[in-house]
Amino acid sequence: MAKLSLKGGRKMKTIFSGIQPSGMITLGNYLGALKQFVELQNEYNCYFCIVDQHAITVPQDRLELRKNIRSLAALYLAVGIDPEKATLFIQSEVPAHAQAGWIMQCISYIGELERMTQFKDKSAGKEAVSASLLTYPPLMAADILLYNADLVPVGEDQKQHIELTRDLAERFNKKYNEIFTLPEASIPKVGARVMSLQEPTKKMSKSDPNKKASIKLLDDPKQIEKNIKSAVTDSEGIVKFDKENKPGVSNLLSIYSIFSGKEISELERMYDGKGYGEFKTDLAEVVVKEIQPIQEKYFHLMESSKLDETLDLGAEKAQKVANKMLKKMENAMGLGRKRR
Ligand code: TYM
Repeated sequence: MAKLSLKGGRKMKTIFSGIQPSGMITLGNYLGALKQFVELQNEYNCYFCIVDQHAITVPQDRLELRKNIRSLAALYLAVGIDPEKATLFIQSEVPAHAQAGWIMQCISYIGELERMTQFKDKSAGKEAVSASLLTYPPLMAADILLYNADLVPVGEDQKQHIELTRDLAERFNKKYNEIFTLPEASIPKVGARVMSLQEPTKKMSKSDPNKKASIKLLDDPKQIEKNIKSAVTDSEGIVKFDKENKPGVSNLLSIYSIFSGKEISELERMYDGKGYGEFKTDLAEVVVKEIQPIQEKYFHLMESSKLDETLDLGAEKAQKVANKMLKKMENAMGLGRKRR
């Protein structure tokens, strides 16, 4: 097993990140998170998690959830996560997460949790808001702190949660014992906030009921093409990046830029004097070209025994690290009897 903690004689830094198995993975999750993970696994000691306990903060269908967990695990591998380099596991299979999550809740203030944008968005106008929707960020903090992660690669929408994680870690370190590393968010320059194709001022989301609003990593090529072609733009007919006045075109340009590896300014020049039709056709082509091989690997993995073997091994490796930190946390607070 090539889980080296030393690279070229220096200690490798640690990364933790997670994705909720709460629906089909979108292009937003891919560009904001997964694609970064694949690059980072070569340089860091990585823990990638399927955060199923986060998913149940809103009601989930039991069978759907099971399916989504497996599907997300296969997608992690299909995009290029290598279990020889990174540890891939399911959150609920490492009990230390829920245990440490409780501890982090005990040092969190209701006021700071109520200020989280995501809590405000998800609870607005709802009658039955679960308590866990409010206490979700301390669980996320526990996820990260259990592994002493230095870096947390995420999309823009998770930045506030990472800042809270730092605050909680600092609070714990000062009050009890200096045991936590203060993590930093790693947010990609382009692709950190992929927007809805139908309402480009709103982020693309797994849970958007409008099928045309997102591109799912497992959508068939025809559907991808259809959704890109029907993406909302404007009546100007000029391919130009202007987030404020042309959010739809700017969103498509960002997506195009990442998939093609071309600068946005270069794309603007390429489509100078051309309409949105040609631009969208070409964009659909580059997206499908990258996603199709991922889908092929995905379907193969769903049939193979490699998936379960990887997850078993991942849970085992993660448990070792997480349990050690949990003991440190309990010792620092005086919980139970002193253990090593
Ligand atoms: P989740 O499951 O909503 O999203 C997974 C990752 O995808 C990113 N993302 C996006 N990036 C760009 N554009 C978008 N439209 C877009 N939508 C989502 C998210 O920023 C995220 O990186 N709370 C987390 C899961 C979590 C976690 C953690 C993350 C739990 N514990 C510890 C990091 C570390 C979440 O709900 O992500």
